[in-house]
Amino acid sequence: MNETSCIRVETGGPVSANEVVELFSALDWSSARFPERLGAALAGSHGVWTLRDGDRLVGLVTAISDGAMCVYFPYVAVHPSYQGRGWGRRLMETALARYRGFHHVALISYGDKAGFYERVGFERDCEKAVLFARDEANADRV
Ligand SMILES: CC(C)(COP(=O)(O)OP(=O)(O)OC[C@H]1O[C@@H](n2cnc3c(N)ncnc32)[C@H](O)[C@@H]1OP(=O)(O)O)[C@@H](O)C(=O)NCCC(=O)NCCS
Repeated sequence: MNETSCIRVETGGPVSANEVVELFSALDWSSARFPERLGAALAGSHGVWTLRDGDRLVGLVTAISDGAMCVYFPYVAVHPSYQGRGWGRRLMETALARYRGFHHVALISYGDKAGFYERVGFERDCEKAVLFARDEANADRV
């Protein structure tokens, strides 16, 4: 068996909150602090795609969608040890295939990751779109 033969993209999980916490911790993502809410987020997602090396979760994409018109990708993650080998592209292309032809396909990118999304077919929409965010944790201060 060669090195990549046990690494694979799977559609639909299953994936546990604990596995996701481990992956997000490796990326130093603050969401890793909320395992219970992450479990609910996974259960409530329209689509989940995993990258596994054997049994180990090493990548994840989730989608929130109305199933017909709009899809948003809140989590796109590849473990640092597996980055730069084409797995992010494989994950993203597999997820995007599910939503081909949708009217709105959107995500929010970190500035230093924008090139990745451009490589998989996204375009910046700074001309038409303005990003609004609301800090619910501090909403009572507004
Ligand atoms: C962003 C991320 C998902 C990319 O996954 P990856 O497996 O490293 O990317 P790939 O190897 O599949 O790269 C696909 C293409 O995108 C390019 N690319 C990857 N990361 C890039 C970056 N940060 N900037 C510019 N281009 C990038 C690659 O060079 C490659 O180009 P090619 O098709 O011309 O060869 C991964 O780096 C990651 O999980 N990072 C940490 C978590 C994160 O920040 N997620 C995104 C939140 S917005």
